[in-house]
Amino acid sequence: MLQKIKQTTDYIQRCVDFQPETGIILGTGLGNLANEIEVYKTLSYSEIPNFPVSTVQGHKGQLVFGYLSGKKVVAMQGRFHFYEGYTMEQVTFPVRVLKMLGIKLLIVSNASGGMNTSFKVGDIMVITDHINHFGTNPLIGKNIDELGPRFPEMSEVYDKRYIKMAFEVAERNNIHLQKGVYIGVTGPTFETPSEYKFFHIAGADAVGMSTVPEVIVARHMGLPVFALSVITDMGIGTTEKPTHEEVQKAAAAAEPKMTTVIKEMLKEI
Ligand code: HPA
Repeated sequence: MLQKIKQTTDYIQRCVDFQPETGIILGTGLGNLANEIEVYKTLSYSEIPNFPVSTVQGHKGQLVFGYLSGKKVVAMQGRFHFYEGYTMEQVTFPVRVLKMLGIKLLIVSNASGGMNTSFKVGDIMVITDHINHFGTNPLIGKNIDELGPRFPEMSEVYDKRYIKMAFEVAERNNIHLQKGVYIGVTGPTFETPSEYKFFHIAGADAVGMSTVPEVIVARHMGLPVFALSVITDMGIGTTEKPTHEEVQKAAAAAEPKMTTVIKEMLKEI
C-alpha cells in the first residue's frame, strides 16, 4: 500500500513540477470551482497509476494543479464514492497521495441533505464534526505506521482555526453560513423519512454519501481538515423527494458562495 502511494506520488511529481500547499476535494455539482484556478497543469485520473477512475455523472475525474488566490493548490475534480463500488482503500487513496505531495491543509466540499429545520436548500454548512455511519472504516486492516497511529484520536477533526476563519470571511462578504454535524452514509439510496429523523435525533444536521472516509484518512496522517457542505435538499419538514439532478442543480447554484469563502480563506492562509 505504502509502495503504491509512493509510486503514484513519484509519477505525479515527475509529470508536474509543482508543490501544492492545499488540497481541495470538489463534490457533486461543485467541480466548477476548478475553473477559478489559474491552471499550471491537469492530470486525468485515467493517466495516474493506481488511481481509480470516476464513474458518477457530473464528476470530471482530474487533478488540477495551479494557483487559487495566489496560493498553490491541487483540486480533485471528481471524487470516488463508496456506493460506486470502490473499496474504502480506493476511495481514500488520492488523499494519501495528496498528503505525500506535501499539502498542509485539506479542504473538502460535498452536497448533503439538511435535517436541521433552520436550514434551507442552498445553504452552506461548515462541518464542525462528523458521524461515521458507513458501517466500516478506511483504517480497518494492518495499520500503515509510516502514515499514522493504529488508534487515531478524533476529538477535533475539523480544525477550529479554519472554522473561525470561514465565519470571518463570510461575514465580510455578506455570506450566511450555517454550521453543524455531518453524518456520512453509504448511499446510494437517499434516506427514508424515518432515517432522516433518526439521524437528526442522533445529532446530525446534514447527511451525505462522502467526505467521512477521506477525512478519517487525512486525520490519521495528521493533516488539518476544513469542510463545507451545500444543503441541496431537505430531509425534514418537506414532502419533496430528492433527486440526483436536483442535488446537482442546487449545488451548482450555491457554488459561487462556496467559491468565495474558499478563495477568501486561501488569501489568509
Ligand atoms: N441524503 C444523502 N446524501 C445526499 C443527500 C441526501 O438527502 N443530498 C445530497 N447528498
